[in-house]
Amino acid sequence: MPPKQSGSSNSYIPDNTGIESIAITLPNMARPLKIMFVSPEVYPFAKTGGLGDVSGALPLALKQQGHDVRVILPKYRSVDESKRSVQPMGLTVAVPIGPEVKHGELYEARLNRTVPVYFVDQDNYFDREGLYGNTDGDYPDNAERFIFFDRAVLEACKALDFQPDIIHCNDWPTGLIPCYLKTTFAGDPFFKTTRSVFSIHNMGYQGNFDERYFPLAHLPWKVFTIEGIEFYGFFSFMKAGLVYGDRLTTVSKTYSKEILTPENGFHMDGVLRQYQKKLSGILNGADYVKWDPQTDSRIKTRYGPKSLKGKKECKKSLLRKLSIKLTEETPLICMVTRLSQQKGIDLLIQNFVELMVQDAALVILGSGEERYETFFMEQSEIYPKRFRYINGFDEKLAHQIIAGSDLLLMPSLYEPCGLTQMYALRYGTVPVVRRVGGLADTIKAFQSGKNQGTGFLFKTSEADDWISLLQKALDLFSKKKVWKSLMLNGMKQDFSWEKSAKEYVRLYRRTLKKD
Ligand code: ADP
Ligand code: GLC
Repeated sequence: MPPKQSGSSNSYIPDNTGIESIAITLPNMARPLKIMFVSPEVYPFAKTGGLGDVSGALPLALKQQGHDVRVILPKYRSVDESKRSVQPMGLTVAVPIGPEVKHGELYEARLNRTVPVYFVDQDNYFDREGLYGNTDGDYPDNAERFIFFDRAVLEACKALDFQPDIIHCNDWPTGLIPCYLKTTFAGDPFFKTTRSVFSIHNMGYQGNFDERYFPLAHLPWKVFTIEGIEFYGFFSFMKAGLVYGDRLTTVSKTYSKEILTPENGFHMDGVLRQYQKKLSGILNGADYVKWDPQTDSRIKTRYGPKSLKGKKECKKSLLRKLSIKLTEETPLICMVTRLSQQKGIDLLIQNFVELMVQDAALVILGSGEERYETFFMEQSEIYPKRFRYINGFDEKLAHQIIAGSDLLLMPSLYEPCGLTQMYALRYGTVPVVRRVGGLADTIKAFQSGKNQGTGFLFKTSEADDWISLLQKALDLFSKKKVWKSLMLNGMKQDFSWEKSAKEYVRLYRRTLKKD
């Protein structure tokens, strides 16, 4: 039985948005595309993890390539209206939910003063403490909340008179949109030429709900079958995206293959194999406007590959802040992570004592499953000199920890892409990772003889002995010249969004050509 719940993404411009029309000449004179980018989280408005970062950066990269891209997400309580100039638009959408009709108000802001971001406001659904849940777990009405949002997105396109070529949906909370386009809205002239792309950021969260929620969506019963969105008796948002999306993507090439296997498909691998032809992997980018030690205003001292002095200052300042006494010669290891099983936390726990006898210190910033939080809180009492645990989600501290540490640990059981290791590379913080998914695609094993490579990788089959790999990394830290070249190799890596955005545009065009 699969896991039941979800977890925890023409140049016509309407007058009412006040958006200026920009004339852009594309090199191949291809027509700019109209893209509605739909995500349950978008940085800096709402973020619980990497999907927020992706949704705050990819639309900007698409815009830079001349496309008319708009972003839409729910208006959660965390969306700070005053700080981010979020304005009501005076537009309302009506969504049938079971026997009722619920209304949503549209709000608007901008990403980097350029890309329009729309918010669907519905206090009963979104004016809550968390995005998907609170400390008690997922919200029990998540099915209803995201049925409302998905249908509201389509109604919002109409209210805005924005007829998208592509609706780019991200993760299970947006999964019903492709299904609505192929059913309820199939005969609607407004969406006649609209096609959908559904991106999988994590197969571990599928939005599988009890079938009693299905009638709330007003989808035809004929889709509630094994060929459609029914999944082991559940009403599956993820499956809706997979079955009805015109194209499917995931966030690294390796993960696009891994999810076809029972080990990583989370029971959905059969469906994925069936639709393999429309699936491809496009590696995420890293947003170097926000994550670059040469310009980062959140860190103590800026630095870059030409001058690493600032990194030492960052380490000193971090150690002071965390009250850790450590000499410069002692390596500082960090993790900035959701505390979920996916992140390989159990491996860390199994080897915690061995880790604590190394000549190193460890700092973890993370929140998530209570059992992990409790474990780390206890350990910080046992090892006050070697270990600090900061329980919470703190964007600024995440930058400071990544800048001030020497190594980043990511032993993830699976990792669709992973952004933290890409950020770490840019900050000269050497990643020690499991060779899976996007970690395998972004980290090259260090070969000391040749001074090539950017980090350390262990295979799942070597997981029992990963401490010896870490030991190797820690030993190398004392060889200053070699370590410096390892840091520099990483700092010079370029995972900027431009390349990936171009791949998405090629995919969008292929999707539009399909029929
Ligand atoms: P995932 O999306 O699976 O959580 P990624 O590596 O793709 O993993 O992205 C994680 C993002 O969330 C990064 O921007 C990382 O800095 C951030 N992050 C994770 N945990 C925390 C935390 N406790 N505080 C601040 N930022 C965090
Ligand atoms: C998910 C994945 C992570 C990926 C992120 C953005 O949360 O766990 O690997 O980087 O989405 O795509």
